[in-house]
Amino acid sequence: MRISDERILVLDFGSQYAQLIARRVREQQVYCEIVRHNISAERIRELAPKGLILSGGPASVYEQGAPKCDPDIFRLGIPVLGICYGMQLACQAMGAQIESATRREYGRAHCRVTSPGQLLAGVSNETQVWMSHGDQVTAIAEDFEPLAETDTCPFAAVKHKSEPVYGLQFHPEVTHTPEGATILGNFVTTVCGCSRLWKLEDFARQTIEEIRDRVGDRRVICGLSGGVDSSVVAALLARAIGDQLSCILVDHGLLRKGEAEAVITEFTGHFKTDLHVVQGEDRFLSVLAGETNPQEKRRKIGHTFIECFADEAAKIEGAEFLAQGTLYPDVIESGGLEDGPAATIKLHHNVGGLPEDLDFQLIEPLRDLFKDEVRALGTELGLPDDIVWRHPFPGPGLAVRCLGEVTKRRLDTIREADAIMIEEIKAADLYRKTSQAFVVLLPVQSVGVMGDARTYEDVVALRCIETEDFMTADWSHLPYELLAKMSTRIINEVQGVNRVVYDVSSKPPATIEWE
Ligand code: XMP
Repeated sequence: MRISDERILVLDFGSQYAQLIARRVREQQVYCEIVRHNISAERIRELAPKGLILSGGPASVYEQGAPKCDPDIFRLGIPVLGICYGMQLACQAMGAQIESATRREYGRAHCRVTSPGQLLAGVSNETQVWMSHGDQVTAIAEDFEPLAETDTCPFAAVKHKSEPVYGLQFHPEVTHTPEGATILGNFVTTVCGCSRLWKLEDFARQTIEEIRDRVGDRRVICGLSGGVDSSVVAALLARAIGDQLSCILVDHGLLRKGEAEAVITEFTGHFKTDLHVVQGEDRFLSVLAGETNPQEKRRKIGHTFIECFADEAAKIEGAEFLAQGTLYPDVIESGGLEDGPAATIKLHHNVGGLPEDLDFQLIEPLRDLFKDEVRALGTELGLPDDIVWRHPFPGPGLAVRCLGEVTKRRLDTIREADAIMIEEIKAADLYRKTSQAFVVLLPVQSVGVMGDARTYEDVVALRCIETEDFMTADWSHLPYELLAKMSTRIINEVQGVNRVVYDVSSKPPATIEWE
């Protein structure tokens, strides 16, 4: 049996939280997948999940065209937990009344547990929950019983009297519901009977066996970028097939300070892989010479990257497979899954990806994992924290942080300033709390004074953000002392910089990168 055979399905009704629900279930060590909301009861029977969670969603159950589920799913005998919109659907399907609340309820609410049952066992009698809804269940059919209430919501949690169908008007998956994990844990274990099989050490073991079976004695190529995803893929393959793995690192000269060296040390020193480093700095710099348009920079870099990669791959004899670090969110959002939700519109700037016609069979061992699971797996495989917790870095690298023309001198300026910024953020123990921190070199010069002389030099902007999903982000409220220290050090230590500014824009309307 595979550890993913015991699973919970989340039916996605368009909630911004569908992926979060799935992550929270997996934190309970139960495998969880997201499927489209109108998946048929027949298909669910085939997939044989241990439980179903109906997500929230932006619609009202009474709206024309509101997404509905197959009503037969409530008669499969499989436990169901409806959250918010999902609760209203479940209750409506089973005879309850739903009404628009007189006002939208949004935010923290005080919840009283009146009859915990299996779902709310272990939850405090008085607990805080996070509400976000317009409609609510106003009268439950005789078949339901209330489990909890708030001042404005008499049915904050309900249970069907004879079927294993539950509803929560609040969101147990968000951190603003502090006892939400207990509730989800109760649902997946006590109600659904899952035995917590989803453990990353078992995932590693199982995936390694599967890779060995599939690859046999053939050769696999893996591109390394320095980021966590490709490093974890390479580490997994190194464990699985040892010297049948060849890695390619295209050093385009647009990496951060010491990054290429760190990857080389890790993958030749520690993992002892056959690592091919393509020294592409000159080639990329000449392709980028004079280019100031951000999308053109991306296009040129993407194009040159593929050429470098393909040239190097062609030198590796007998390679039949290409390993890639595709993650579960990429797979869901691309809409390519048989039972998964439709594609979501996402700004796709990843031109650093490889084309499909490279004539390799793909190995994507992280396809089922969320980012936090990839990090945990990296640690499990023995990768150092420095790689596992590295902030994301765009494929086109520092070129899109070098506003205006990309030259070696300007890149070196960013590299030096960036290294100081990261060093200070780490020293302040804020690296993990922040999601991305970096330096941008502006295409203007500013007046300053050093000693007795007037200077006219570069300006750098510091960008540091916090985010869950990189779709929205807030600028980090870094302590003034830390900002002061970074600024002083950068101006003193990085030649040619006489001014440092801090970016206080959130996304939206700004983006995380400047280009
Ligand atoms: P934005 O700037 O769109 O960034 O708010 C969101 C996330 O995507 C990263 N990013 C990129 N990643 N190629 C990539 O692989 C790119 O061209 C690119 N542009 C932005 C950005 O660093 C952030 O994590």
